[in-house]
Amino acid sequence: MKGLILSGGKGTRLYPLTYTRAKQLIPVANKPILFRVIESIRNAGIREIGIVIGSTGEEIRGAVGNGEQFGDVKITYIPQESPDGLAHAVKISQDFLQDDDFVMFLGDNVIQGGINQLVEEFTQHAWTSQIVLKEVLDPRAYGVAKLREDGSVEYLVEKPKEPPSKLALVGIYMFDHHIFEAVHAIKPSKRGELEITDAIQWLAENGYTIYPHIHQGWWVDTGKPTDMLEANSLVMEEILSEMAEAERVSPSAVINHNSMIDHRVIVSEGALITDSIIRGPATIGAHARIENSYVGPYTSIDKNVTIRNCEVERSIILEESTLEDLPTRLQDSLIGRKATVKRGTEKPRALKMNLGDYSNIQII
Ligand code: TTP
Repeated sequence: MKGLILSGGKGTRLYPLTYTRAKQLIPVANKPILFRVIESIRNAGIREIGIVIGSTGEEIRGAVGNGEQFGDVKITYIPQESPDGLAHAVKISQDFLQDDDFVMFLGDNVIQGGINQLVEEFTQHAWTSQIVLKEVLDPRAYGVAKLREDGSVEYLVEKPKEPPSKLALVGIYMFDHHIFEAVHAIKPSKRGELEITDAIQWLAENGYTIYPHIHQGWWVDTGKPTDMLEANSLVMEEILSEMAEAERVSPSAVINHNSMIDHRVIVSEGALITDSIIRGPATIGAHARIENSYVGPYTSIDKNVTIRNCEVERSIILEESTLEDLPTRLQDSLIGRKATVKRGTEKPRALKMNLGDYSNIQII
């Protein structure tokens, strides 16, 4: 079995962060989502992984390399000229996939508990495809499945205005080689993309077996900034539940006696924490400096970040950024790399900003 990760796309809903960075490389709990996806596939015993890349391909190649850093994994890059849809990505990957069964994983999706069980189920049955469904409150932004009373798939529909069920398609799919007949047979949708839901629908209409697995744990499709914060919280909870307390604080981190750190906080090597309170779940990256500050639950501070005289909660602060002397708590925020947010002392007293396109600021 092979793995296929979709890491092209534009990431427009995460502008401005994704102007300068591939969305799949934004870290949750201080590790890029794409790395978590590669590890899930590797943990399911798959060693050959293709990654579909688009305009951010060079950055992805630079970060992932040939796969060595993930152990015994071999990465093949598959360039996609423009993001013409998930089924288009499958179509251009045929040379890499050949006749092998494969799991396709969207490079911006995070799922609780990994995919070992799913892959095992698929290899033990003669299904043409296995899809993963999750009951959600509002399925209108997703592919949606309608099942028959016996649990089989009746039909699938992409982003319906009036969803026929609450079962959304999670970004993890398993296929055998018949999927290539489907992706060659279907036509682009109204939004101009070759839709994977149409390809799976084609399989259903042509008598192939599609097995729907209903996922019971959490799943986040990280399209928007709020999804990133949600994924960050959930992944941190999961990591902490699996990590022994003794491993959470690096021996090279320095925490002064005037600081209070919860037991659900991960502190990486070389971090320096002085006169601060950190309430978990939280992650403090390598060589971060936290001084006279409060870091609240569900916050990820990336490497080389400086936080001085501030309060921060439920936020992701990316590498080499600085927060200083903020008069109010920073909350529910996503701060990109090398950003500076600080209180100015110069007159006239005014908000002074140097923001990129599509930035989004709320002032109280
Ligand atoms: P989407 O979230 O549907 O698209 P996007 O990444 O372009 O984001 P936005 O809607 O904010 O502009 O894509 C899901 C995943 O699949 C994501 O990791 C990108 C990837 N993808 C491809 O690799 N090729 C494609 O043609 C498309 C549409 C997506």
